[in-house]
Amino acid sequence: MSTNTTDNQRKVTTLRLTEMKRRNEKIAMLTAYDYSMARLIDEAGIDVILVGDSASNVMAGNVTTLPMTLDQMIYHATSVVKGVNRALVVVDLPFGTYQGNSKEALASAIRIMKESNAEAVKMEGGAEIRESIERILCAGIPVMGHLGLTPQSINKFGTYAVRAKEEAEAERLISDAKMLEEIGCFAIVLEKIPAALAARVASELTIPVIGIGAGNGCDGQVLVMHDMLGINKGFSPKFLRRYADLATVIDSAVKGYINDVKDGDFPNASEQY
Ligand code: KIV
Repeated sequence: MSTNTTDNQRKVTTLRLTEMKRRNEKIAMLTAYDYSMARLIDEAGIDVILVGDSASNVMAGNVTTLPMTLDQMIYHATSVVKGVNRALVVVDLPFGTYQGNSKEALASAIRIMKESNAEAVKMEGGAEIRESIERILCAGIPVMGHLGLTPQSINKFGTYAVRAKEEAEAERLISDAKMLEEIGCFAIVLEKIPAALAARVASELTIPVIGIGAGNGCDGQVLVMHDMLGINKGFSPKFLRRYADLATVIDSAVKGYINDVKDGDFPNASEQY
C-alpha cells in the first residue's frame, strides 16, 4: 500500500511500525554504524536503522559478534543518531551486557539510551532472558526481540545453519515469539529460519516481524548494509541480495587515484591554490 509524501517524511516510531503492519505496508530495515552512511540511508527513506553488533564483523574485523563492548556500541550508535532524521534507530545490546541479570541488563540499556539518544534496543533470546527484557520495558525503553539464529550464541549452536527446522525448536520459537509480544516488545527479528515458520509467526502476532533469511511472509526485511552494498564480498548466503558492487567501485576508484598520483597527474592546475 502506498502512503503520501508528507506521511512518508514523518518520523518513524515504534507505534508507526505497528500501524505499518496493520496496513500491510512492508518495513525496510538496514544496519549502519557511522554518521555518513546513516545519513545516506536515512535520506534514501529507510524505515529502521539497526546499529547491529555485526559491527564486530564488518567494522572491527572479528569473526563473531561476541567481542563487541557496550562502549563500542555506544560509540557507533552516537555517530548514527547524529545522521538520522526520519528512521527509528535501534541498538543491539552486545553479548555479556544483559544475560547475567536483569539489573545489569537495565543498566546497559539505560547507558545506550542516555549516551547515544537512540530510540530502542534489540536483544537476542526468548524465555531465558524474559526477566531482563521485562525490566528494560518497565523503564520505558522499547525492546525489539531477536529469535532463530542468534549470532551471540554461535558457540552453543556450533554452526550458522538454518534454525528451527525441527518441530521442537520451531514450537519453542513460536512460544518465545508470543511471549515477547505479550510482555511488550514492539517488534521481533527472525533470523535464518524456514519461510513457512516465519510467515506463521508473522500472521499470529500483531507486532511487526522483521526477517533476515526468513522468507517473504515477514512484515519487513533487514540486511547488513556492507553485505547488500557488496562491500563485504566474502559473505554470500542464499538469502542475501546484493544491490551494488561497492567493492569493485572502490577498487577501481582507488586504483585510478594511485595511478594519477604516481603519474604526477593529480593534482592538476585547477586542483591547487
Ligand atoms: O547485528 C546485526 O546486524 C543483526 C542483524 C543481522 C539483524 O542483528
